Amino acid sequence: MDQILILDFGSQYTQLIARRLRSLRVYCEILPFHASVEDILSRNPRGLILSGGPSSVYDRKAPMPDPAVLSLGLPVLGICYGMQLMTLAMGGRVRRALRREYGLSMLRTRGESVLFSGAPRGFRVWMSHGDEAETVPDGFRVTAGTPDVPVAAIESAERRLYAVQFHPEVYHTEHGERILRNFARGVCGYRERWTPASFLDATISAIKEQVGDSRAICALSGGVDSSVAAALAYRAIGRNLRCIFVDTGLLRHGDRDRMEKVFRDRFRFDLRIVDASATFLGRLKGVTSPEKKRKIIGHTFIEVFEREARRIKGARFLVQGTLYPDVIESVSVKGPSAVIKSHHNVGGLPKKMGMELVEPLRFLFKDEVRELGRTLKIPEHILMQHPFPGPGLAIRVLGEVTRERLGILGKADLIMREEIQAAGWYDRIWQAFCVLLPTRTVGVMGDERSYENVAAVRCVSSVDGMTADWSRLPDGLLQRISARIVSEVRGVNRVVYDITSKPPATIEWE
Ligand code: XMP
Repeated sequence: MDQILILDFGSQYTQLIARRLRSLRVYCEILPFHASVEDILSRNPRGLILSGGPSSVYDRKAPMPDPAVLSLGLPVLGICYGMQLMTLAMGGRVRRALRREYGLSMLRTRGESVLFSGAPRGFRVWMSHGDEAETVPDGFRVTAGTPDVPVAAIESAERRLYAVQFHPEVYHTEHGERILRNFARGVCGYRERWTPASFLDATISAIKEQVGDSRAICALSGGVDSSVAAALAYRAIGRNLRCIFVDTGLLRHGDRDRMEKVFRDRFRFDLRIVDASATFLGRLKGVTSPEKKRKIIGHTFIEVFEREARRIKGARFLVQGTLYPDVIESVSVKGPSAVIKSHHNVGGLPKKMGMELVEPLRFLFKDEVRELGRTLKIPEHILMQHPFPGPGLAIRVLGEVTRERLGILGKADLIMREEIQAAGWYDRIWQAFCVLLPTRTVGVMGDERSYENVAAVRCVSSVDGMTADWSRLPDGLLQRISARIVSEVRGVNRVVYDITSKPPATIEWE
């Protein structure tokens, strides 16, 4: 497949480069910075991008690529740290920036460059660096500068080497997409129009080949990833795919019904629904620590799933909806980001079970999975649903989880979702949910004093869940949510709205 490769030097923006290229319909993959030249060439790329990174090229432990990458004859675009690497490697000099720049800066281009073709002479770009090019390597020319950074872009069109000090992948950079497109299509000559659906036939054949006449199992959670992964596998192996849905008793109202309707009734999946709510709730009895809850749920899930899986004779494969960001995370130079909460997903299943993995989505980003899901005719209400954590409502009923409290939370949550959907806000936010607080407050209802629970409403906007901001919902909508919850849900007499961003808070409360 035609592609561009991105070497990752640890920038927080590396994934963004990949996402921007993919949205330009250019297929690309990320490799760690130390990828060997043989590995790079074996993938037959059209060009290379050297990402930014937090290091200085003069650090003793600065990440360095295989020195040959710049002399392969492949087009290369260096971004930020990538530009400094290129400058140094080609014989220029890099120095500590006179003024460390962070944020928007006005770029002015000089002369003609394919990279800036179609962009105006001056536009704003996003800078974030401590080093800068001091002298330009022989055979290179300066194609842009900013008031603080005279050498903000260089190139040797002859050798097809290009570099920019700013970040074209960051959304704040004007014409950033144009620059990436110019590199991919203008410099590298990438002609295809890649789409996630281009994966379809190849992926289906690959699954057929991998699984053959055996059986595969999938832990279908009803979320976007497992739904699309299962639908792909179903296309490949039909009823040799056995799906298992574990009802933990910690799901939202309607989750289980929806699964049955879509996957069993409509798609005709071989779907086994296991009601394990009594086991889960039994083990959660008396437990209030968030980490303990997560651990218990994680272990119990594996246990229940394994038991069910063993009943399916001849199953050697496990279908999983692993996405590209997880794959990148595992090859990333920074290593997995710090674990703040232990996430117990079905990701923990395979090693113990000794089954071979089928991961048809491992090269796709979330929005691409949704696009593929549309091709597979999965309904929008599944593809566009908000993320839902593996431990479910257990981490939203603060304190001890009981059937009664889950019931109260479930009702409040349903009302909130109905209102958000009716107001047209559902697709504009990342996540909207209710939390039941482990405390009671005083209220008056009619002539009577009440002493009941508090429900908190949490609505956030986010791009990837790593950072988030609370949503500025209209007053009227908040008012309707609050009024309906208090009047319709017995046991709640107060509703509060969470106005904390992430960081410092997390999205979930536990
Ligand atoms: P936090 O609360 O860490 O959440 O800001 C970030 C995103 O991850 C989801 N989340 C989880 N997802 N298993 C999951 O599959 C988990 O244990 C889990 N905990 C949090 C959360 O809903 C948000 O979208």
